[in-house]
Amino acid sequence: MEIIIQPDAEAASRLAARFIAKLIREKSRAVLGFATGQTPLPLYRELCRLHREEKLDFDRVTSFNLDEYVGLNPAHPASFRTYMWTHLFGQINIVPEHVHIPDGLAPNIPISCEKYEDEIQAAGGIDLQILGIGTDGHIGFNEPTSSLVSRTRIKTLTARTRRDNAGAFGGEDKVPPHVITMGLATIMECRTCLLLAFGAPKAAAVALAVEGPVTATVPASILQFHRRTIVLIDEEASSKLLRGEYYRYVYEHKPDWQKI
Ligand code: PGA
Repeated sequence: MEIIIQPDAEAASRLAARFIAKLIREKSRAVLGFATGQTPLPLYRELCRLHREEKLDFDRVTSFNLDEYVGLNPAHPASFRTYMWTHLFGQINIVPEHVHIPDGLAPNIPISCEKYEDEIQAAGGIDLQILGIGTDGHIGFNEPTSSLVSRTRIKTLTARTRRDNAGAFGGEDKVPPHVITMGLATIMECRTCLLLAFGAPKAAAVALAVEGPVTATVPASILQFHRRTIVLIDEEASSKLLRGEYYRYVYEHKPDWQKI
């Protein structure tokens, strides 16, 4: 894992956007994995700015989102489809047919999950997956005790995640109990993972994921087995790491060609 600590979420998001823009410019048909939630919002704002002001071209990009609520109309204001079109897709030139988001209204969920995995394979796999982390250590909606070799499937949210996401629904009791999420094995097959975490509430989960043992009770810790995961965090989210000084030293002393 590469741990990069930036002064704040804005600086980290600018770095993340530059990294993504480089991939899009270098690879003719980049496949990007997107996340939702509060964390990637400054990144998406910056990607929209790069499209507007620096002509970053999403025409040949294919996208796959991590997850979606089950039973929620895609037009619902709290659906992840609405989120993605509001905060990113509606402001860039991505081709709608290239966008993939799990279907929360699928009549047969197991078959739709298998199809999602097949679509990822057919696109050549995901080049770069953006990840947030839950306060309970989840990535995607792989809640604690998720199988470390899970694929896209239905999951039941923990009370803590329902509480964390209650704002978008106007109350914890209105958050759907079930979601479809890419599995941990699905995420592990992405060529690069970019995990973003900002703010003190994420510090404990980040420390466990990066420096704790690999365990299904902290699903993000599986990324310790990933070949190329970049953990891009702000000062507050880094505050519980034991080796923060070392990570800063490593980043400061990297040759320019090796920096993201
Ligand atoms: P957040 O969610 O970005 O809204 O904190 C992250 C997550 O649950 O993965």
